[in-house]
Amino acid sequence: MAKITIVGAGNVGATAAHVLATQTPHEIVLVDIVEGLPQGKALDLAQALAAEGRDARIAGANSYGPTKGSDLIVITAGIARKPGMTREDLVRTNAGIVRDVAREAAARSPHAVMMVVSNPLDVMCHVAHAASGFPRERVVGMAGALDSARLAAAIAHEAKVPVKDVHALVLGSHGDLMVALPGRCTVRGEPLARALPRERIDAAVAKAREGGAEIVGLLGTSAYYAPAACIARMARAILDGTGEIVPCAALLSGEYGISGAFIGVPVRLGEGGILEIVEIGLSSDEKAALAKAAASVRELADVALGRA
Ligand code: APR
Repeated sequence: MAKITIVGAGNVGATAAHVLATQTPHEIVLVDIVEGLPQGKALDLAQALAAEGRDARIAGANSYGPTKGSDLIVITAGIARKPGMTREDLVRTNAGIVRDVAREAAARSPHAVMMVVSNPLDVMCHVAHAASGFPRERVVGMAGALDSARLAAAIAHEAKVPVKDVHALVLGSHGDLMVALPGRCTVRGEPLARALPRERIDAAVAKAREGGAEIVGLLGTSAYYAPAACIARMARAILDGTGEIVPCAALLSGEYGISGAFIGVPVRLGEGGILEIVEIGLSSDEKAALAKAAASVRELADVALGRA
C-alpha cells in the first residue's frame, strides 16, 4: 500500500485526500499548521469510508514525524492573495511556506516523488526543487492536467459532444501564460478545426484560460474539485507506474530549447516520477509562447529564491 503525504489540509488538500482514499487503498497523512484541522478532516474522511464499509488509513498531524517513508508528497500549503498584496508579495510568502514544507517533508521521505500544487505553480516548483534537493525526475507540478481538463470541458460544451470524445492539450505556465494547443486538440479523433469554427475555438480557449478566475469570482475562493481530481490522476500514474502521458510542470534541461525553468510539458509519469519528457512538434508561435512563459517563470523564481 502506497503512503501519501498531503501538506495543506485546506480545500484542495482535503478534497484530494477524499478522491485518493475512495479510489485505491492508500495510507494518507494530512499535515497542516492549523491545530485540529488535519486531525478533524482525517476523522471525517475515515468515517466517510466507513459509510461504504471500507477501512481507511488516514491520519492528521501538525508535524512531519508521521509522514516518514512516504512514496508521494503533495504540497498544497499556501495562502491566497490578499487585498493590497502584490504578486511578488504573494510569491515571497508562499515561497517561504513551500520552502519549509518541502525541506521538512523531503527529510522524512528522501525517496519520495514531490507533487507541487501551491501557486504560483511553476515558481513554487522551483522552490520545492531547491529546498528538497530532489533530482528533477522527482519534482512535478500539477497544472497542465487541470488546464487541459478545463479546455476539454469547454470544447465538449461548445461542440456538444461527450467529454470523453475530446482530447485537449495545454502546456506552458499555469496562469495568463498558458499555451493552449488547439491544433493538437481533437474531437472524436478529428482535428478541432473540423468540429468548431475559429471563434468558438477561441471562446473555449478563453474559458480555459480564465477558468480559475471565473471560479474565484463566483465562489470567493479558488477551485478545488478539479484540482483534486487532477492530483489523483497524477498520483495514480506515479504510484501505479502506468506510464501515462500527462501535461505537468517539469524542470526542462534543453527540451523544447528551454533550460532551467519549470514549465508545463507532456510528461510520461510512472514509478519514480518523471520517466520521460515527451517532445512534441510545435509551431514557431507555440515555441515562442513556451519560451515567453519560461522567461516569466525564471524571473519570478529569482524573486522566490531570493536571487532578485
Ligand atoms: N505548513 C502546513 N500547512 C500550511 C502552511 C504551512 N507552513 N501554511 C499554510 N498552510 C495550510 C493552511 O493552514 C490551509 O489549511 O495550507 C492550507 C491551504 O488551504 P486553503 O487555504 O483551503 O487553500 P486551497 O484552496 O486548498 O489552495 C491551496 O493550492 O491550488 C492551489 O492556489 C491554490 O496555492 C493554493 C493551494
